[in-house]
Amino acid sequence: MAEPVAVLMIALLHFIPDSAKPHEIITEIMDAVSAGSMLAITHITYEDIESELVERIKQMSSGSHVPLVMRSTQEITDLFGALPLAEGKLVDAVRWGVPEEEKTVNRGRIRALFGYSEKK
Ligand SMILES: C[S@@+](CC[C@H](N)C(=O)[O-])C[C@H]1O[C@@H](n2cnc3c(N)ncnc32)[C@H](O)[C@@H]1O
Repeated sequence: MAEPVAVLMIALLHFIPDSAKPHEIITEIMDAVSAGSMLAITHITYEDIESELVERIKQMSSGSHVPLVMRSTQEITDLFGALPLAEGKLVDAVRWGVPEEEKTVNRGRIRALFGYSEKK
């Protein structure tokens, strides 16, 4: 592709188990797009939410045709492969771009992380 594009993997990769090799899917797509393209990911995490909620999600997910794969911050960061994370880290999806004074604690709810990167 000649022109840069935005690859939006929004609320998608937590439906892709490790056995389906999400890293390879992302690498194949990002290899095919031109420099200047952006990759954006939001992904559910099990970190920093109540353990009861994690268990409830796992129970619900286990009966689903498309189980939800909650990943750690590190595992989600690793999905970017060699692409450097913009802003240096993942952030809470609901808090990205929100002024510090308006940020609230996200208790009792599913937590998704957001990150983006530019292909140089
Ligand atoms: C929560 S929706 C998000 C859709 C869209 N990205 C958005 O933000 O509005 C999750 C999407 O993942 C897709 N999906 C689930 N499992 C998938 C798989 N194994 N391969 C490709 N897409 C999948 C579903 O079809 C659905 O469109």
